[in-house]
Amino acid sequence: MNNNNPIGIFDSGVGGLSIWKEIHQLFPCESTIYLADSKHAPYGEKSKQEIIDLCIKNTELLLSKGCKLIVVACNTATTNAIEYLRKNYKVPFIGIEPAIKPAALQTKTKKIGILATKGTLSSKLFNSTTEMYADNIEIIEQVGTGLVTQIESGELNSPNTFRLLEKYLKPMIAQNIDYLVLGCTHYPF
Ligand code: DGL
Repeated sequence: MNNNNPIGIFDSGVGGLSIWKEIHQLFPCESTIYLADSKHAPYGEKSKQEIIDLCIKNTELLLSKGCKLIVVACNTATTNAIEYLRKNYKVPFIGIEPAIKPAALQTKTKKIGILATKGTLSSKLFNSTTEMYADNIEIIEQVGTGLVTQIESGELNSPNTFRLLEKYLKPMIAQNIDYLVLGCTHYPF
């Protein structure tokens, strides 16, 4: 494969653009193809098999465009499907998981909050990473139901988005978390 071929990046929608931005800044000379599968968003409420099937479709499309490397810019897709993808395709895959490790290393209150999708929080990979890095830390998990849909429809500052954020974040803050992990690539928006 030619080294000038593009890097493929996919997500269930616009969320992975938060990752694309960093890739583009680090490697401005690389061509990139960004695939936003907004048609099937949100992935977070789907079964593991449905997520794997969508990831296969995304991978096939990016490979048909000649991608030399695929970045799975979605925590839900990584935690549910990257094992399958790595086993079944020759191209290298880079994924993203919730940043439990830095939060666990830096927390002073020994309590961290994780906002992520149902699919991520219920995955085997998320749970084994948590066991590995956050042994003596209390983790308060919260599913961000509805947030991906708000972000996909561009409603970043709408009253409904603020209402959801208050509902999810206030109880975590009340429990004295000092770090909040944004465990979904949509959430930085
Ligand atoms: N950006 C995806 C993630 O990082 C969003 C998941 C979804 O579509 O529900 O988990």
